[in-house]
Amino acid sequence: MPQLVSTVTDLRRAIAALKPARIAMVPTMGALHAGHVSLVAEAKKHADHVVVSIFVNPTQFAPHEDFDAYPRTLESDLARLGDAAAIIFAPTAREMYPDGHATTITVKGPSHGLETDFRPQFFSGVATVVAKILIAASPDVAVFGEKDYQQLLVVQRLARDLALPTSVLGAPTLREADGLAMSSRNAYLSPTERGVAAKLNLILKDVIAAAQKGDLRAAETAGIDALYKAGFEHVDYVAIRDAATLDHIIALEHPARVLAAAKIGKTRLIDNMAIG
Ligand code: PAJ
Repeated sequence: MPQLVSTVTDLRRAIAALKPARIAMVPTMGALHAGHVSLVAEAKKHADHVVVSIFVNPTQFAPHEDFDAYPRTLESDLARLGDAAAIIFAPTAREMYPDGHATTITVKGPSHGLETDFRPQFFSGVATVVAKILIAASPDVAVFGEKDYQQLLVVQRLARDLALPTSVLGAPTLREADGLAMSSRNAYLSPTERGVAAKLNLILKDVIAAAQKGDLRAAETAGIDALYKAGFEHVDYVAIRDAATLDHIIALEHPARVLAAAKIGKTRLIDNMAIG
């Protein structure tokens, strides 16, 4: 059975006891689904032992967002992980943010635009907690999902810029049978909303096909229109960007990515796909 620890001191002690074995880390906010489990399986390919963190990080939620409603399911998360993880780090908010906590990490570069235009506090919250978790565990490898593609690039930049001794790897998005990207937030969807949600991935495929005809702005606009027609109530963005930098592009010369965020009812969904 995995070891469950809730303090940084106990995490360090548990990891030290496994050394010199190679350690891989998978940070999560819990409410684990098969997508998270696939990251753990990927992590195990690169290390002898996997450490999973489960922490609903308050600093990456704005006051009007779903921090209180975010599903907290530690018992079923532990059951879902089974023996796949050697250590599970599930700290309290006070452990991660003790009274007087005054340090915030800000990553510029890939955090510019897209999610930041709609969730301005999000990446500093993510970067701060991920830096703290990676510094606490000092894993050889950390695995993040391409599902949150901008987050993956932000964390890779963070690890590089802070010279963390951790290789940050991306892993592909796991999808439901109809193509909807698995997400803890899918649990919020009513059956009708779930039907609408399934169209997001199909529309992204249409945007890719349109982009390959050459006019990237026309492809983005057609994608936005298609999402509204499919029943999304608000489209935050459909954007075709350079896959390595997320810079704006006008032609598909280098690997590119289409990224989108849209709302149905109170649920905000994001998805993205490689182009080419
Ligand atoms: P969370 O949303 O729980 O996601 C944890 C990890 O699982 C992230 O790397 C995310 O990209 C990945 N993931 C989510 N859905 C996936 C899917 N369908 N297929 C593959 N991987 C998927 O992302 C966060 O938590 C937080 O921001 C965190 C990095 C833990 C910092 O608080």
